[in-house]
Amino acid sequence: MNESDSERIAAVLENTNYQAISDINKADLVVVNMCSIRQSAVDRVYGLLPKFKKLKNKNPKFITILTGCILKKDKKKFISGFDLVLNAKDLPKWPQKLQLQTNKTIKPNSHYLKISPKYQTNFQALIPISRGCNNFCAYCVVPFTRGPLVCRDHKEILKETKEAVQKGSKEIWLLGQNVNDYHSPTNVKVNFSKLLKQIDEIKGDFWIRFTSPHPKDFSNELIKTMDECRKVTEYLNLPVQSGDNEILKRMNRPYTVEEYKNLVKKIREKIPEITLSTDVIVGFPGETKKQFQNTAKLFREIKFDMAYIAKYSPRTSTRASEMEDDVPRQEKQRRWKTLTEILKETALEHNKTYVGKKVKVLVEKKKKEFLAGKTKTYKTIKFEGPKKLIGQFQKVKITKAITWGLKGKLI
Ligand code: 5AD
Ligand code: SF4
Repeated sequence: MNESDSERIAAVLENTNYQAISDINKADLVVVNMCSIRQSAVDRVYGLLPKFKKLKNKNPKFITILTGCILKKDKKKFISGFDLVLNAKDLPKWPQKLQLQTNKTIKPNSHYLKISPKYQTNFQALIPISRGCNNFCAYCVVPFTRGPLVCRDHKEILKETKEAVQKGSKEIWLLGQNVNDYHSPTNVKVNFSKLLKQIDEIKGDFWIRFTSPHPKDFSNELIKTMDECRKVTEYLNLPVQSGDNEILKRMNRPYTVEEYKNLVKKIREKIPEITLSTDVIVGFPGETKKQFQNTAKLFREIKFDMAYIAKYSPRTSTRASEMEDDVPRQEKQRRWKTLTEILKETALEHNKTYVGKKVKVLVEKKKKEFLAGKTKTYKTIKFEGPKKLIGQFQKVKITKAITWGLKGKLI
């Protein structure tokens, strides 16, 4: 979501007399779009301040802006370290605030999502369909930093998607903190499944991906839609957060492990080739060794392709911050390692099933002599080839499976 906001920030600034550069030492303006989901991300922003001070001493024109998800307590501290702390929602007003000349196409009173983003690549488009979240998972800061769930008009989403596809986007990412709790504000009948169907009907050769869905809102209608829509990819990040019912309850995640497993079963029955990843937190307050073992057991049973394993980090304002963060750091690390080891095995097991197959790949980048891309099922694949193929679909034969991806040969 922050990445998508950054693309709109870049579009606004490039509409003034600023232009993007990669070397911070030569910059006249820096925007830090911060994330508060874990303390380590906040600490990284604090870590930037001495560098900014040095650059300011060298260049009196140097301006620093802080935006993104910021907790009130951090905002107070950051005000002295940055020239400006601005809300991304006020983006159309930024040029005014910065006293910059801008092209008249951005009206200061327009909604920030109406700004056409400057996508990072010309073949991928991040399209926010909603903002904020109403779920208040006990560990999570998002409802406090981003506010309640607000959905975008489906007509606006369709328009942005059509434009992106016309400009050459081959991969559309629909984004929302709880992406499958989507309901169009102008037509209640347009839920997430209906939106997927409408996007799938847009003419062109492109893939549709989305993140992140909540298991509680994963309907049979959505499973059917994913199966039927040809452009919707066989990839799903379905956050489980814990494999223990008591912890799930205390996390305020309203499903049981059995319900999660049943959901995965239904999805795999309909879409057997699906790549399944998850988000999980180890060391939630009060998580006993036995409760953690239930998560490890779930990992062995489900055999995820990929997982984002986080060590619990207390966040101000959240319900969990009132609970004692009683799992020692070393124990969190140990639990993280246990899940990573299981994941390495299950990921490789899935990847091995690809060897010998011919797949369509969206080529994303070139690193040393290898091109890297993604299959429709979101597997990373490396193969030799010329740089000019970046941004194109190519056919690749898979020759080898490795833990975190595949190797292949251009056909
Ligand atoms: N500590 C650790 N991980 C967290 N996440 C969210 N809040 C926390 C926290 N306080 C993880 C969840 C979520 C992902 C985006 O970040 O797993 O799905
Ligand atoms: Fe945070 Fe996601 Fe829970 Fe919303 S659904 S509170 S964003 S973890």
